[in-house]
Amino acid sequence: MTTAQEQHAVPEPSTVDLTDPQTFLDVDPQAMWRRYREQSPVHWQSVSGSRMPGFWAVTKYADVVDIYRNNKDFTSERGNVLVTLLQGEDSASRKMLAVTDGPRHREIRNLMLKSFSPRVLEPVVAGIHRRTRELVEQALRLGSLDFVTDVADHIPINTIGDLMDIPAGDRERLVEWNTQTLSRHSSEDSALDEVMARNEILLYFSELAAKRRKNPGEDVISALATATVDGKPLSEDEIVFNCYSLILGGDESSRMSSIGGLIAFSEHPEQWRRLKDGEVGADSATEEVMRWTTPAMHFGRRALVDVPVRDQVIKAGDVVTLWNSSANFDEDVFTDPGTFDIARTPNKHVAFGHGPHFCLGAFLGRVHVNAMVEALRTRVARIELDGPPQRLYSNFVYGYSGLPVTLTAEGAS
Ligand code: HEM
Repeated sequence: MTTAQEQHAVPEPSTVDLTDPQTFLDVDPQAMWRRYREQSPVHWQSVSGSRMPGFWAVTKYADVVDIYRNNKDFTSERGNVLVTLLQGEDSASRKMLAVTDGPRHREIRNLMLKSFSPRVLEPVVAGIHRRTRELVEQALRLGSLDFVTDVADHIPINTIGDLMDIPAGDRERLVEWNTQTLSRHSSEDSALDEVMARNEILLYFSELAAKRRKNPGEDVISALATATVDGKPLSEDEIVFNCYSLILGGDESSRMSSIGGLIAFSEHPEQWRRLKDGEVGADSATEEVMRWTTPAMHFGRRALVDVPVRDQVIKAGDVVTLWNSSANFDEDVFTDPGTFDIARTPNKHVAFGHGPHFCLGAFLGRVHVNAMVEALRTRVARIELDGPPQRLYSNFVYGYSGLPVTLTAEGAS
């Protein structure tokens, strides 16, 4: 139940604008979503100035999981995030895995899984741990640093960059384009910057894919560029859009989880102690960091038929958004959801989604966060925030563009 104090601080669902990134900077998200779950778990938000009249915001865990699972009645092909869903279409539809359904989705997914299954990726795990440890050690030598730009920005991009064999000199600008595509540093960056960044990435991969088609190597781009499905090669658009989705998915969310994990440990000294003492292992802590940070706040679908959900009917053609950032704090599923508990079990969070579009890179994402938890546990004695974290301006990615911090090494006086 909400307390009387929160009733004042937390806005009514009817007054919240989920399309406005500012909302996610102004409110306490845990309190806001609790209000949604209690008062309006299947909530209609009208939108003006958009091709669609509005959308449903679904916030209970059980409903989110049901809709994720149900790709018969709900499609991803008209977009899977609020921005594209409200435009009524996604230009990558049926060219990119996440916005393809049916048999083509299964075929391309199986093809891409060949490069991202735990068995295939096992050899890169040790390298991720090594790189993360080195960066954390370098950070300890600096003492005071920006954890985003000095540490986190350099890890996932280099793993996915190695897997795709992206020249080292190009990686920094890809990180910047990724951030601009998915979110903004502030309200002053324009929507046009987002579109331009997306076009830059697509152009970049179109050139790289053409080279790999001629001279294939052992990397993921070459695998896509030379693969055949039903005896036919993938189209150029399929290759380019899937590279785009790998670089975006592979970099941004893992980075944001690791940063959010560091903040969580700095704010919960008791959990930090349990991790340091070995009372709780890094694997369990990693799952709780994933739940606690939930970097992909929502995904979405279009309904193909009328579907009753609780006391509402989602009509054929309606846009539905599924709020992972609420489902992962649903008190019907998680005991004391507002407590950061690294020993939490069970912990069946939906940070990686659920069902047929369940994150293709979940294994890799977990390895990244796990490597960070492990490096912090073994090398760092104290984490002190030197100022407020700088939040990204987004209604999709929950994350940070800056985090001033002082890290003290184990054994330092
Ligand atoms: C799908 C989250 C890391 C590539 C998804 C979905 C979520 C998600 C929630 C479901 C989308 C939907 O249902 O519409 C995350 C988080 C990550 C992460 C939180 C890290 C902490 C990665 C990595 C890669 C990746 C490392 C690439 C190697 C993809 C792809 C899909 C996807 C290609 C589409 C799968 C499909 O449609 O079948 N991710 N992801 N993700 N993710 Fe991730």
